[in-house]
Amino acid sequence: MSCPGRYSYHPNGDTTGDDGMLYGEYLMLDKLLTAQRPLSAYHGHAVHDEHLFIITHQAYELWFKQIIYELDSIRALFKRVVEETQSLEILKRLNRIVLILKILVDQVMILETMTPLDFMEFRDYLCPASGFQSLQFRLLENKLGVKQEHRVKYNQNYAKVFGNDEQAVKAIEKSESEPSLKELVERWLERTPGLENEGFNFWEKYKKAVNRFLEVKVGPEEFNDDNKDYRNQEYEKKREQFESVLDNRVHDALMSRGERRFSHKALQGAILITLYRDEPRFSQPHQILTLLMDIDSLITKWRYNHVIMVQRMIGSSQLGTGGSSGYQYLRSTLSDRYKVFVDLFNLSTFLVPRSFIPNLGLKIKNHLYSNTDWKTASEDCIQNNEEEKLDVKNF
Ligand code: HEM
Repeated sequence: MSCPGRYSYHPNGDTTGDDGMLYGEYLMLDKLLTAQRPLSAYHGHAVHDEHLFIITHQAYELWFKQIIYELDSIRALFKRVVEETQSLEILKRLNRIVLILKILVDQVMILETMTPLDFMEFRDYLCPASGFQSLQFRLLENKLGVKQEHRVKYNQNYAKVFGNDEQAVKAIEKSESEPSLKELVERWLERTPGLENEGFNFWEKYKKAVNRFLEVKVGPEEFNDDNKDYRNQEYEKKREQFESVLDNRVHDALMSRGERRFSHKALQGAILITLYRDEPRFSQPHQILTLLMDIDSLITKWRYNHVIMVQRMIGSSQLGTGGSSGYQYLRSTLSDRYKVFVDLFNLSTFLVPRSFIPNLGLKIKNHLYSNTDWKTASEDCIQNNEEEKLDVKNF
């Protein structure tokens, strides 16, 4: 008897005796559940914990697959001009990636129930296999936007790892040549409404606001108290920080050293979105920026949990089965160079207090509640100089 409305899939097109598919068939559990092959048992000395070791790695690879699937679809959405309706879908999928990564961070703990002594009993059997050869992990990094030149030296040469696997090399090359999520987000930020010189011209207003903030709040003329030296230093530091974003040349120098990743225009867009996140039109873009930081931050947490586990299992001086310096190599990947959205983390340096944020003016504000083209609003705004005036109050 067949279920009403049940669909069947027949790779060979044969529908005779059609009863549809059962749970195990649909999920191909025959393949999935027979794919665990502990090498210790094969060598005649079964080690109980090797089963957990295999299952954990397989579970990771399945989740990597899902993350890549979501990431590819998000990149496709960003490739088109992002409409408001699309940003909801982007948010949903980014959030899904974040939730999966949270599980991946915690999953390390399960494997930590294995002791170093247990691991030692089967570790030699797996050599030279290593997570270093996880193709999906590299694809994930590349698709997010980790660049070869930002990796630590040991990790820069894929040929050593995937050289004999033509398909893997092709997949890696493709992931490097396609626009990464970071590049697509950068282009999207560059188009942030409000950046146009002939319209709201956010950047000019922001510069003035920063100067007022530095003068009014931390200006040297106020420094006549006991902490004068300290406050002078604070002021200088703050001024330099703002200069790094206000002065294109400083920004470009930081970019060429890999310390900043977004173009100057994209950074302007990110600052604008962050300052005006309470405006309905910027609320979703702001959530997108927050989720991108969550992704970076969770991957860093995974790297950290993994490296701590590695130290617990093999100490800090044994080589990895993949041939690296092991713990030392992995520790070096915890650097900011592996953070794709590092600029978003540093945005807080460029914020000014709420009372210094340039006023949007009534016209622009009204347009932010509707879907009307921003440009029209900006043109109205030019005619309305009074409304557009910078509204900077002391606090
Ligand atoms: C007992 C548990 C584990 C140990 C001792 C261990 C050890 C290591 C070591 C030493 C490396 C450096 C490369 C090398 O082998 O020379 C490495 C890299 C790696 N491992 Fe593990 N690992 C463990 C569990 C896992 C798990 C559960 C995963 C999940 C997929 C994983 C994924 C990776 C990845 C993706 C890399 C490359 C990281 C990078 O190059 O940035 N490892 N692991």
